[in-house]
Amino acid sequence: MLVLGIESSCDETAAAVVKGGREVLSGVVAVQDDLHRPYGGVVPEMASRRHLEVCAPVVGRALAEAGIGLDDLTGLAVTRGPGLMGSLLVGLNLAKGLSLVTGLPLVGVDHLEAHIFSGLLAARPGFPFVALVVSGGHTNLYLVRDLGRYELLGATRDDAAGEAFDKVAKLYGLGYPGGVAIERTAAGGDPARIDFPRPMLGDGSLNFSFAGLKTAVVNFKRADPGEVSVADVAASFQRAVVEVLVEKSRQALRRTGCRTLIVGGGVAANSSLRDGLALMAAEEGAGLFLTPKALCTDNAAMVAFVGTFRLMRGERLDLSEDAYSRPVRSGG
Ligand code: KG4
Ligand code: ZN
Repeated sequence: MLVLGIESSCDETAAAVVKGGREVLSGVVAVQDDLHRPYGGVVPEMASRRHLEVCAPVVGRALAEAGIGLDDLTGLAVTRGPGLMGSLLVGLNLAKGLSLVTGLPLVGVDHLEAHIFSGLLAARPGFPFVALVVSGGHTNLYLVRDLGRYELLGATRDDAAGEAFDKVAKLYGLGYPGGVAIERTAAGGDPARIDFPRPMLGDGSLNFSFAGLKTAVVNFKRADPGEVSVADVAASFQRAVVEVLVEKSRQALRRTGCRTLIVGGGVAANSSLRDGLALMAAEEGAGLFLTPKALCTDNAAMVAFVGTFRLMRGERLDLSEDAYSRPVRSGG
């Protein structure tokens, strides 16, 4: 089974070839950081135009790096949503075109489902498990009963965790994308220096809120005469986010009785979050499956991976089907 995955839901154009639902033969990711850096966030219209320029060449490179041609493939998988509509349509339309000319079967993959299963490329724990997807657009906890059978246990009420990282980085002029910049700056700082709020931590729900935390940093900066180093602010902010994510994940494990936690999405690349989750999982006696760092931010290997299982089930995307921008509510 050789599956080509295509991903273009936000600002990364990616293509990858995955063999047998396990081995990543190639993975190409074209980032657009240079394009969006001056704005401190993704500009949708510019993102879709860049996808249009690079999407076909990125697919060509992924095939070349895998040492195969279109003829060698078994199937195609593409992200259908959620994401930016203009961006999604570029990858989806290219995938449809490829399917049409080659006759290869095509499946649509949900971007959030791809983030959930990116933690399982190397290992296969049994169902059910708890999944934390923590990215620039989402902060979701799921009870995963099977591929396609999810119960949303909790989600952010406002900003996603990655969004909070990006906004705080922008506030302090630390660079774009913000998560990596905050992590780098925080490395030299004291995480106990400022006691930022831990929003919704003790409220008994599995929901999140990060907008108030970002506002607390804004207010702190306004009031600070410049005594506290940016490293201390970054480290204290990062600790607040990590603590909320870790504790809510712990509560999700306890509430569901699951013994396994899977973690994916861009923010899952954060070392301090990875360390915090590892400690918590050890305390809870739970198995932890962290997505490899290289596959945390958007990529196509995770799309090809989920696509492989959907193709094996006989699923097919009708060539008249559309992309979707909002998350799908799937049944538990
Ligand atoms: O999964 P992703 O590539 O795109 C979405 O689906 O949203 O996640 C991107 C997000 C951005 O907000 C970025 O700042 C954050 O992930 N991120 C990080 C790190 N690397 C990326 N956040 C914290 N620490 C990191 N090392
Ligand atoms: Zn993503």
